[in-house]
Amino acid sequence: MQQAAVNILTANDRGGFTIPTSRLYPYQWNWDSAFAALGFARFDRLRAWTEIEMLFAAQWNNGMVPHIIFRSNDPDYFPGPDVWQSGTEPASSGHSQPPVATSVVRWLLENNAPEDREHAEHLFPKMLAYHRWFHNHRDPDNTGLVATIHPWESGRDNCPDWDSGLNGMDVDPDLGDYVRRDTSHVDASERPNQFQYDRFLTIIKVGRECQWNSQELYRKGPFLMVDPGIQFILLRADRDLLAMAREFGRPETELQEISAWIEKSSAASEKLWNEQARAYCALDLRSGHMSDAMTSASMLALYAKAGSDEHRNQLMERAGEILQEVKYAFPSWDPTHPKFEAKRYWRGPVWAIMNYMIARGLEEHNNLPMAQRVREDTEKLISQAGYFEYFDPLTGEGCGGDDFTWTAAVQLAIESNAKESN
Ligand code: GLC
Repeated sequence: MQQAAVNILTANDRGGFTIPTSRLYPYQWNWDSAFAALGFARFDRLRAWTEIEMLFAAQWNNGMVPHIIFRSNDPDYFPGPDVWQSGTEPASSGHSQPPVATSVVRWLLENNAPEDREHAEHLFPKMLAYHRWFHNHRDPDNTGLVATIHPWESGRDNCPDWDSGLNGMDVDPDLGDYVRRDTSHVDASERPNQFQYDRFLTIIKVGRECQWNSQELYRKGPFLMVDPGIQFILLRADRDLLAMAREFGRPETELQEISAWIEKSSAASEKLWNEQARAYCALDLRSGHMSDAMTSASMLALYAKAGSDEHRNQLMERAGEILQEVKYAFPSWDPTHPKFEAKRYWRGPVWAIMNYMIARGLEEHNNLPMAQRVREDTEKLISQAGYFEYFDPLTGEGCGGDDFTWTAAVQLAIESNAKESN
């Protein structure tokens, strides 16, 4: 076991929940916590469950699990609870993040331990309510495509996937002056730019003004796009939820409800296929515009088993070409596309958590050589550069925050998966 990774998780533990890294991200984040639990599970099972239970403790009455949970007010972070004004206890942000938590819960059942099952069964109704929220509130017309109302909801904040939606909206003229905190902790050239940040805050202002009413945000909000990341992570999580529903003997109506989501989402995912990019891409529901390059989120079609076999095979072929362009898998944006930036956050860099899910999907499609390349590259990046937030796919340099929880957690998870398959 990598003691350094264990030390990072322990140091970032704030008493039952883990922060992604001190100063830059001093609160509990939704999908960061799910991955943290996966890391904790390798050395402290109970602590892993506590992480997920504290995440679901912040669930809203309508089922949503927020993307940030503010259990304190830390002046080092902006925008804090006073900007979001969720009106909830604990205070939180007003939208969600990719629902990877359900899949982590299922992975934690791998040892068939009765104590684990007890925790999972207890969490089941909360997970179901969370998935219902996604399907009903982010897809009120039941199209099978789950929308996202803010690039931060996707967890891939400034990916070029969102350029269309952000370019199509106006900045609120009354936004006022504000001071970003992120750029005082890490290099501004590696962060989202001001054009994007003004729009991020405009969406929050609209959300706050309608008290985060999801109908209103879906129908009239400034930004509405389909993220292949959320679409696929939710579809995978739906499959995991269904497996657990069967295992726990849940009522037939619930099994049917979840099966219907799976069928609908898998078929509707085909609408995200972009023939020219040979990948599943983001779709702007306001303008109809589709993004035009493969991302690490496109690759999650494998993990979700979404769309058609033929397109998933084409996706793997395209991935093979992309991997020839970079030293380290898997870039968050196509390196041959003019918008690629090797060090700027989600516009090129490698993220360990995406690699973890991509490798699982490749393995499940029997593409073992590519799965191995993705895993080995992840391990190399971490051992050479350290536990950074993300990495340059061309040079391997570590970027953003250091001593990062999910990077440490993924290293522990990969290490243990490797042991299991030996
Ligand atoms: C950034 C990332 C997001 C992550 C958060 C905390 O906003 O884009 O995915 O959850 O940081 O690590």
